Amino acid sequence: MELNELAEEMAPAAPLGSAEKPSAPKKVFLKTYGCQMNIYDSQRMSDALSADGYVATETVDDADLVLINTCHIREKAAEKVYSQLGRLRKIKAERAEHGREMMIGIAGCVAQAEGREILRRAPVVDLVIGPQTYHRLPDALKKVRGGEKVVETDYAIEDKFEHLPQPKRSEIIGRGMTAFLTVQEGCDKFCTFCVVPYTRGSEVSRPVAQIVAEAEKLAAAGVRELTLLGQNVNAWHGEGPDGSEWGLGRLLFRLAEIPGLARLRYTTSHPRDMDDELIAAHRDLPAVMPYLHLPVQSGSDRILKAMNRRHTGDDYLRLIDRIREARPDIAMSGDFIVGFPGETEADFEATLAMVRQVRYAQAFSFKYSPRPGTPGADMAGHVAEDVKDERLQRLQALLAEHQRDFTVGSVGKTMDLLIEKPGRQPGQRVGRSPWLQPVIVDEKAGEIGDIIKVRIIKAGPASLFAEPG
Ligand code: SAH
Ligand code: SF4
Ligand code: F3S
Repeated sequence: MELNELAEEMAPAAPLGSAEKPSAPKKVFLKTYGCQMNIYDSQRMSDALSADGYVATETVDDADLVLINTCHIREKAAEKVYSQLGRLRKIKAERAEHGREMMIGIAGCVAQAEGREILRRAPVVDLVIGPQTYHRLPDALKKVRGGEKVVETDYAIEDKFEHLPQPKRSEIIGRGMTAFLTVQEGCDKFCTFCVVPYTRGSEVSRPVAQIVAEAEKLAAAGVRELTLLGQNVNAWHGEGPDGSEWGLGRLLFRLAEIPGLARLRYTTSHPRDMDDELIAAHRDLPAVMPYLHLPVQSGSDRILKAMNRRHTGDDYLRLIDRIREARPDIAMSGDFIVGFPGETEADFEATLAMVRQVRYAQAFSFKYSPRPGTPGADMAGHVAEDVKDERLQRLQALLAEHQRDFTVGSVGKTMDLLIEKPGRQPGQRVGRSPWLQPVIVDEKAGEIGDIIKVRIIKAGPASLFAEPG
């Protein structure tokens, strides 16, 4: 999973804990779209709601509160919200006929980008709340119960992370062996295709002490693998315990000291912010996994310039050489956009050439989607939809070929496996390799949370099969 539009996720996976009034707990249905940061945010909203007496439900019909955590990255992602609201309008009306209220809240990047406009387009909505103000959720709901329509999209001056309640131990345990931890939010890069700087605001880095405290809490509850999150995670520059400014590499060295935390990952990185200390962390820390999501978007210098990525294709390739020198077994992952305004066949072929050189183990590719308010939307030379389709197909075929080679290349190898959960079939367990590949083993191979040595015996279409090795 990468920091981009994910498969739809339900959050939270676990019950929200006990309610204040056991006889009639308020129920929340929380649906999450978008990137890992939205999953993390949904968990934190769950924590806030749990403290406010809510329990989770997985059926909309019996929810007192429906909260949708939205994504604005591409048009399709944003439009999903409105189609969902159409359905919710009917359910809300049916509930009202039985004298039961239902509050509807829109959170996330669509909330931040569209604000009050959401209430105009969908009057069924009671609350619009942006990512910077989730700690105010219980107060906002109080106002809604008092009959107000609430829009909370100002950037809060107070530190939301300090004001969000910490999850209970049981809630952390219910969420599994792996956890996300947001260390940085927002983006100052302003790539010309991207809405994130407008929806998540400017870069904010959490201080080291706050991050370490949260990581220690997660580790104490049994979390073995931590993924640090940020829209621009390697631009993180947080205040260290001595008041000096730390970079992400130094933070990884500190987190690697926490007992129990066996694996560290971070996403999403920008090529401009991969500094020497971060590369050294890959070289020196066995806990830092040999996997790096480093989007490049295009292989054409002309398009990279128009996208305001502020590096060339060559800069990127040289950077990967340095990273591979430090950690030869590192697997690269990337994001690509085809059909950015002005992209010619030659530009697109430069992207294919770059892919052939890097050979990504994993990649995400998208057709350019013009986003209102971004410079790209107003550029000349928009590419026809059928050309975008055709380029996307060619790119995806090449990426899939490399991905398949990477998977098949794992057969016969011995590696560490973190066992995460029961498998789909009885008697199986599933875990992840250091390269994020799902691996299936017999349940006798180890307990959930164990890291065991395995030998890969077979590659299936979606996962690898292994035996203790
Ligand atoms: N912060 C990350 C990724 C942000 S969004 C980064 O800097 O790379 C995740 C991915 O969505 C991007 O890497 C990009 O490939 C894609 N994306 C963003 N805006 C898009 C748009 N307008 N149209 C198509 N794809 C887009
Ligand atoms: Fe968007 Fe670019 Fe910032 Fe990534 S670096 S979030 S693509 S503006
Ligand atoms: Fe989407 Fe916002 Fe994440 S736009 S990709 S949910 S930062």
